[in-house]
Amino acid sequence: MAYSTLQCTIEDGIATITISRPQALNALNSLTLEELSQAVDQIASNQEVRVLILTGSGEKAFVAGADISEMATFTPLQAKAFAGKGQAVISRLQGLAIPVIAAVNGYALGGGCELALACDFIYASEKATFGLPEISLGLIPGFGGTQRLPRLIGPHAAKEMILTGKYVAASEACRIGLVSQVFAPQELMGGALATAKIMASRGKAALRAAKQAVNQGLNTDLATGLVIECDAFALCMASPDAREGTKAFLEKRKPVFTGALNG
Ligand code: CAA
Repeated sequence: MAYSTLQCTIEDGIATITISRPQALNALNSLTLEELSQAVDQIASNQEVRVLILTGSGEKAFVAGADISEMATFTPLQAKAFAGKGQAVISRLQGLAIPVIAAVNGYALGGGCELALACDFIYASEKATFGLPEISLGLIPGFGGTQRLPRLIGPHAAKEMILTGKYVAASEACRIGLVSQVFAPQELMGGALATAKIMASRGKAALRAAKQAVNQGLNTDLATGLVIECDAFALCMASPDAREGTKAFLEKRKPVFTGALNG
């Protein structure tokens, strides 16, 4: 499928979505949100795709936020619809059964930071900069930042970022747990791809169950989370890959996973 504000490629089971609006540092306008929604649907329905990498085009920006020129004249109702649309797309991305890596190559501000937060983990270029600067526009984050950032880095660190609008460099983002690994700019995509290949080689049912258990468990208390984990563990046992993985270990060989979801 062809898009005008992003590229979506699929190679060897690894999909890459590259947000591409160079004239606006890849800012998210309504069209980009719509196309991102379509691309996520395209990936969700393709059983061959095992991992998704999300990045931005060019060297300067991952995504510099929601499109301020589109937002500037919004009425409150239009703002609500726009935030709802952005939240829905980003939640859909977070809900994908496959692992999603954000490869943050530059500015990840406002809606761009919020997009990265919904991925399973974030790899960043040394040139990446993170921030929720909406407060400096007289606004607050609207694509999930007030909810996902505190859950990831804790309420105090998140409120310091949200209430000041300060920018955080890649190394600091790594220190506070926002970013998992920092790469030289030219090594970022290679690093993301290497990790994507490792995950793509794992059992599909186990990947799906692990991601669901973590995500669902984060929204509940420990006791309920442990029940979720127990059920997901049991469900995994029904997959041919679980039989193969344990058998291969006992036979001292590498497993050959088929990715079939049940036996
Ligand atoms: N929306 C629309 N256009 C944007 C944009 C955005 N979020 N960010 C950058 N651009 C545009 C600029 O207007 C500029 O366009 P022109 O060349 O036509 O003037 C072009 O991209 C290049 O940007 P700059 O000239 O500003 O580049 P710079 O290197 O001087 O600065 C920057 C880079 C620090 C990222 C700066 O562009 C900036 O501060 N951008 C806005 C960041 C921001 O506030 N993001 C939050 C948006 S609100 C939001 O996201 C709400 C929400 O949660 C839903």
